Amino acid sequence: MLLNASGCLDALTAPEVARSLDAFVTKTVTPLPRDGNPPVRIAEAEVGMLNSIGLANPGIDRFLTGNLPRLAKLEIPIWVSVGGFAAEEYAEICSRLDDHAEVAAIELNVSCPNVESPSESAARIVASARLATRKPLWAKLSAAVPDIGAVACAACEAGADGLSLVNTLRGLTLDARTLRPSLAPAVGGLSGPALKPVALAAVYACYQATSMPIVGMGGVQTGRDVLDFVAAGARHVALGTALFADPDAPSRVRAEVAVELDARGYSDLDDVYATAHPELLSIGTTTNGKYLLK
Ligand SMILES: Cc1cc2nc3c(=O)[nH]c(=O)nc-3n(C[C@H](O)[C@H](O)[C@H](O)COP(=O)(O)O)c2cc1C
Repeated sequence: MLLNASGCLDALTAPEVARSLDAFVTKTVTPLPRDGNPPVRIAEAEVGMLNSIGLANPGIDRFLTGNLPRLAKLEIPIWVSVGGFAAEEYAEICSRLDDHAEVAAIELNVSCPNVESPSESAARIVASARLATRKPLWAKLSAAVPDIGAVACAACEAGADGLSLVNTLRGLTLDARTLRPSLAPAVGGLSGPALKPVALAAVYACYQATSMPIVGMGGVQTGRDVLDFVAAGARHVALGTALFADPDAPSRVRAEVAVELDARGYSDLDDVYATAHPELLSIGTTTNGKYLLK
């Protein structure tokens, strides 16, 4: 599946772009409305982009009465990204989404670098969300941890159905003239091509550590990038920063994937999946029994 990365596409203002995806992922929704951080909130970095939006969103009440019914009219699967400042807040939103048939899945944003929050562990958040909903739960992790494979295992044991990898990394850019931080809050989240090798390493590690399906993202711009993420172990791939520069990216990337597959003699992305892990394919089982091998 090809998706958008949360916060990188407004499906209500660009419905045709959303319809060119296999599922639409919303901007993160929190219990209360948030104005987000003060401007300037976006800056160019040499090899990507820095943002400090601060989870600006209408809050769950207005999301359910206003945004969700309008999104449902797009008739593509909707994944709702959920955020909060404590495990109970995630659980509250999940339970309110549970009865909405138009919500295909929930992505738990346990990794936003642009909000100050108590450091609830990803596993605790997943566990309380799991009790609150029957919807598929995707845990969106940050690569800024010493052992992302261990976090992935903990999220899996807590009841996550999949992983979204990765969120932005904290970065700083300075204004060329003043040499002061470009963004009002100084530090923001780095996205775009600079993130790709970091994201690939995270996908690779989590594929090795768990049997969970992965949505890979971080600097995906081309069909070749999609093949890289799938070969590293991602079942699905999301486009983020690329959508700001090229709203036609989904259809262009799909066409490029077809060319890349053809050039390699592959019939589809299943032929590419886990190519980067020949040791897992050949061994067949692992000592801790965590891997489901293909
Ligand atoms: C402007 C902007 C807003 C974002 N907002 C969110 C958000 O609300 N929730 C979230 O989980 N990730 C958010 N992200 C992170 C993206 O979903 C994605 O994880 C990250 O940008 C890496 O992908 P990319 O390099 O393709 O952009 C945001 C990214 C950008 C650039």
